[in-house]
Amino acid sequence: MKIVKFNLVDQDNRKTKDTDLIGKYTVLYFFPKAGTTGCTKEAQDFSKAIEWFESRKTQIYGISKDSPEVLKNFKEKYQLKVNLLSDENCEFANSLNVQKDGKIVRSTFILDCWNRIRWSMFNVKVDGHVEKVEEQLEKIIQQDKALNELIELRRARRALSEDKISDEQLEVLLKAAHLAPSCSNKQPWRFIVVRSQDTLTKLHEALSGGNYWMKKAPVLIVVHSKKDMDCQLSDNRDYFLFDLGQAVAFLQIQATQMGLVAHPVAGFDPMIVKKILPIPQEHTVITILAIAYPTGDLSKLSEKHQVAELSERDRQPLENVVHVL
Ligand SMILES: Cc1cc2nc3c(=O)[nH]c(=O)nc-3n(C[C@H](O)[C@H](O)[C@H](O)COP(=O)(O)O)c2cc1C
Repeated sequence: MKIVKFNLVDQDNRKTKDTDLIGKYTVLYFFPKAGTTGCTKEAQDFSKAIEWFESRKTQIYGISKDSPEVLKNFKEKYQLKVNLLSDENCEFANSLNVQKDGKIVRSTFILDCWNRIRWSMFNVKVDGHVEKVEEQLEKIIQQDKALNELIELRRARRALSEDKISDEQLEVLLKAAHLAPSCSNKQPWRFIVVRSQDTLTKLHEALSGGNYWMKKAPVLIVVHSKKDMDCQLSDNRDYFLFDLGQAVAFLQIQATQMGLVAHPVAGFDPMIVKKILPIPQEHTVITILAIAYPTGDLSKLSEKHQVAELSERDRQPLENVVHVL
């Protein structure tokens, strides 16, 4: 999704830039020329609906090539309630491809609270346009309120395909993990990606019996670290485990988006893992992740795991784990 960038002035010559929009939804509508019939109606229609938009934490900006003075007169003459921005050299319009042959193409963009373009319409017809924008904005707000689909989709799946995972896929997964936050940005996570058959076979010896299903995975990622690679605060607050957990969670969500399974396990013998892989003795091997495509073929799984694979998610009621004061 594209993020908008601009640096303009409004009708009162106040500097307005993209970062000023953050934290609210924004309707940006480009119009060809202040004072013309269509542009006046569009600005009046948005002004009439301003309360509806504001009640949904949404700000509205109209943008044209007109000078700030012209926009100020336009706003005052028609008592417009929208903010107007001047893009005299069309820099912003060009970045969004809304300028053709020196003219602004009437166009509207809905941005979310992170300035990402979530909806756009070019060659806008003014009649009924505000209603269309309201409908789209409402949809976006509902989507944003919902529980994240990837978080809902992710499961600790065990029915794995032996199909290869590419280097590009692995790189994206590791980038996602590495973008996790960490205490003082210590980035304490270390990953060993195992994909050579020889090393995989050796590593299989370290797995506990119940983790037989991991032997199908074409890639295993071993995650290790040590205490002093991260913040060590009073009251036993050692953050290395916390931060590794975040990195692994990021990797799992990225994998889910890519149609992959990333299943972390604790069931392995760390001493054997350390004998096979170049991991310093003083490090803790926190988890091994099985990376694979999922399969619907459950025939290689134990009965218990077949049931788990098809089960609904098992969680305690939220009130058992949350205390609201
Ligand atoms: C730290 C950790 C260790 C885990 N170890 C194992 C394991 O050794 N074997 C296994 O089959 N699953 C393992 N799991 C998967 C959990 O059993 C699974 O996440 C949990 O039952 C919840 O199911 P869900 O992830 O499908 O929501 C582990 C998960 C985590 C986060």
